[in-house]
Amino acid sequence: MRERIRMMLQQSGGAFVSGEQISKALGVSRAAVWKHVQALREAGAQIEAVTRKGYRLVDDTRAPLSGARIAPYLATRALGRNAVFLKSAPSTNQVARELAAKGAAHGMSVLAEEQTAGRGRRGRAWSNSPGQDICLSAILRPRLEAQHAARFTLATALGVYQVAAKLGFLPSIKWPNDVLLGNKKICGILLEMDCTVEEISFIVVGVGLNVNNHSFPAPLCDTATSLFLEAQRINGEDQKPFERAQVLSSLLNALEPLYDACEEDYPSIQKSYTAACSTLGRQITLTGAQGVLHGVAEGIDEIGRLLLRERNGVLHTVSAGDVTLRGS
Ligand code: BTN
Repeated sequence: MRERIRMMLQQSGGAFVSGEQISKALGVSRAAVWKHVQALREAGAQIEAVTRKGYRLVDDTRAPLSGARIAPYLATRALGRNAVFLKSAPSTNQVARELAAKGAAHGMSVLAEEQTAGRGRRGRAWSNSPGQDICLSAILRPRLEAQHAARFTLATALGVYQVAAKLGFLPSIKWPNDVLLGNKKICGILLEMDCTVEEISFIVVGVGLNVNNHSFPAPLCDTATSLFLEAQRINGEDQKPFERAQVLSSLLNALEPLYDACEEDYPSIQKSYTAACSTLGRQITLTGAQGVLHGVAEGIDEIGRLLLRERNGVLHTVSAGDVTLRGS
């Protein structure tokens, strides 16, 4: 009921909706409407109540994410159906790993408004802005050999790419998993895995998605952006923040079929990823465990590794590293 009231208020686009309208539409008393509005306020929603006018949602976009808020938009079978929403966590990946080690099922997801020790790739830290971005970690239990785990990195980047494209942006992917708007990153993806020599026990896919961040500190502002900042660049100061619950649901909805395809039809992922990846065909510099390599990014192989050809003709197959596009 609460979420239906929130949706009615959201749909009015900031205009007042009377208590009577809500009570008629939902078949409850006006006193019950008032009680639900109070509960929504306690959960963080800013709802203005004015005598003889009714209720108006002021800015709901910073209210904490919850199962009830994503339910109206979620269309998945398993992904995110069972989820924990935390106010604060050291790292959602860490919490998800602990849950997975205790047997949590495929699709179980962990979300946190704030991470106090967020993890990035290659041992780096990941900082977030509570109420503005999304910190998600999903537990996956694919029946695949460990060497195929990187498929899920590519699929996750593709999922974020699809969400951004659906919102009207022109995203691109920088191998392996940076989703860019212009040449700035809107998300970070960190895969962690527990496996035996034979097979994957579980994968934790961590996604940090910059949704409504209004700014980034230097020097991050040179390389990071958010959906809001990019939309504001196009639409100007009137740009409203995005509804995080919708963005999160849309991400989970996009990811589930991609994860299914990682097990059942990987060539389709490889094909879509190749089309979305701006690294391919470009002169790049790659910094990784093997040192610094310069060359042309020629392709992605069947387990997600980058094929980089040096000027002297030597072809390298690289599983991890940081790419800089030369001439950008
Ligand atoms: C990167 O370095 O680009 C990857 C960053 C991944 C950040 C996300 S936020 C949710 C999840 N929890 C973490 O601690 N890290 C990932």
